[in-house]
Amino acid sequence: MQRIAVVPGSFDPVTLGHMDVIKRAAGLFDELHVLVVHNPGKSALLPITERVSLLEKSIEEAGSGDNIVVASWSVGLLVDYATDVGASVLVKGIRSQVDVAYETPMAIVNRHLAGVETIFMLPDPAHAHVSSSLVRQVSSLGGDVSPFVPPPVAEFLQRS
Ligand code: PNS
Repeated sequence: MQRIAVVPGSFDPVTLGHMDVIKRAAGLFDELHVLVVHNPGKSALLPITERVSLLEKSIEEAGSGDNIVVASWSVGLLVDYATDVGASVLVKGIRSQVDVAYETPMAIVNRHLAGVETIFMLPDPAHAHVSSSLVRQVSSLGGDVSPFVPPPVAEFLQRS
């Protein structure tokens, strides 16, 4: 039986913290879907197609794409996507107690909705302070985001 998991997120844009979780989760499962999900609670910087493209480039450049599929999902429940692709696990990166408080109810609801389990993965402490919202803020104020994001994202934001 194939072990298939989904790493969902806004990825607006993908950060080195996300990449750490994606690479490590890819080592734990036969197939890993990195899913760009529209989060109505957040105002977006990048269109979903751009986020997907930057994820694909970053994963390819990191040389860890063999068992990774990048996709997007903007209609319906996240667990519907998981069920459609045969995934029984969601993987979420947890940086702090704030993330635990935010993710716990969703994990419980997703298990009740579809029997999909959620695994929380601790990021490398080197990336624990990195978030997409900080990257968006630093970038919009003209700062250098290259210490926080994969090279394709830094290049894209520098050009924008
Ligand atoms: O990167 P983010 O913004 O923290 O990602 C949050 C995301 C998109 C993973 C979260 O909002 C989510 O899981 N959305 C799925 C919507 C859904 O299925 N909700 C019902 C059950 S919780």
